[in-house]
Amino acid sequence: MPTRAALSHIPGPKAPPIIGHTLTIARDSYGTQQDYISRYGDVYKTKMLGVWRVNLCGPDALEYVLMDKEKNFSSEGGWDALKLIYPGGLILQDFDHHRQNRRIMTAAFRASAIRDYRERMAATMRDLLTTWPKDEPFCFYTAIKDLTLRVGGAVFMGLPLDGDLAKRINRAITDEIRASVTPIRQPLPFTPMWHGVRGRDFLRETFRTLIPERRAKGGDDFFSQMCLATDDDGNAWSEDEILNQFNLLIMAAHDTTATSLSVMMAALGTHPDWQRRISAEVAALGNGALDEDALGRMTDTDRVFREALRLVPPVPFIPRMALRDFHWHGYDIPAGTSLALNPGVTMLSPELYTNPTEFDPDRFSPERAEDRVHRFAWTPFGGGAHKCIGMHFATMQVKLFVATLLRDHHIVLPHGAPEWQRMPIPKPKGGLPIVLRRSEPLRLAA
Ligand code: HEM
Repeated sequence: MPTRAALSHIPGPKAPPIIGHTLTIARDSYGTQQDYISRYGDVYKTKMLGVWRVNLCGPDALEYVLMDKEKNFSSEGGWDALKLIYPGGLILQDFDHHRQNRRIMTAAFRASAIRDYRERMAATMRDLLTTWPKDEPFCFYTAIKDLTLRVGGAVFMGLPLDGDLAKRINRAITDEIRASVTPIRQPLPFTPMWHGVRGRDFLRETFRTLIPERRAKGGDDFFSQMCLATDDDGNAWSEDEILNQFNLLIMAAHDTTATSLSVMMAALGTHPDWQRRISAEVAALGNGALDEDALGRMTDTDRVFREALRLVPPVPFIPRMALRDFHWHGYDIPAGTSLALNPGVTMLSPELYTNPTEFDPDRFSPERAEDRVHRFAWTPFGGGAHKCIGMHFATMQVKLFVATLLRDHHIVLPHGAPEWQRMPIPKPKGGLPIVLRRSEPLRLAA
């Protein structure tokens, strides 16, 4: 890791001793970044959790680093903080090794598997949504996290949704996710990292016992598909590789989807015109199966999803580590430097989007296509070799949820639009209280 002196030529704000810019950025990460960009330009340095980081801002930097034509940038080094909890996951691998494993993972995402997941997910979601309270406020964020974990039980693991085992699995996943963002990185007794490591070990041992049966019998869930998956040359994963990849997959799928659905519900609750449009789109699907064709017709929902991801992306920063010295926008940056890319602030740039802080899903219409001004203007799913492998799956899950919920209900926000916590994981402050009412499309306003 380069010393502060090695980065002395990179501009940046003065860092308070020990804590550096950690608290300032945690308090208002977007405002702070926008301030630093205006003062220092699109390359500047900050110190977070004891590490000096060079921030490379804007769509050109996203394209240069994520496309990584010269193999200069390591995802493994960038996401180093996840290593203890998610060792050996795709995001912690680079180049040929990563490509080989990604090919095997892609088998679990093939079209026929996705169809099975969709059917299983639609049925599970329908059942779970009937248990949600009606006509009284509840915390949407808590409810959607619980729902996505339970849907995950069925779709990812092929396990029953209730019972003691499901509860312990859910607890372990939650502990892992909490550990992945905690500032204390050592597993000291009773700290979040300690709970996270125990959760990791519990999940590994639980799923290890399932592998022989799933290998023998298969199943239409992700875990079974990963037990059976091979690349084009017939290479499959060892037990440890399955467990490593599966563990990361659950984490990557979970909070991201819960956050984006929360942003969508908050937006629909505060924009009745859009809620009416989406309700009409859902009504036009009729009562048939929510198959690929039906979901393909949900183009307004797609726009709302894309806009939600632009305004509050679940992954607002993407870290990388420089493996070699490189030159960017006038600066020499040494090997070993931690880098931060910032899709979150980039997607709010007035140079790319008109009225960038406004909720305006029609900016994604074919006529306006604001996201096309630059190949990396819209990057909630990243880009290049590590681009989110679950992008289509996430879109399917979001559309299924919206279609199932808004078929016969509409949502009201009793306290209006929430504020968003951006770090470490974006979520609505106050948990986003909502009320579900039987649908009366002409009376959507509270
Ligand atoms: C709205 C939902 C989601 C968002 C915004 C999102 C975002 C991202 C981003 C930005 C990356 C790239 C990180 C990097 O380059 O360092 C990524 C990678 C990944 N995502 Fe997602 N994700 C979402 C949902 C999902 C789902 C549902 C799954 C699984 C079913 C998933 C699985 C993965 C995996 C395995 C990777 C690592 C890929 C690799 O390293 O090759 N994600 N995601």
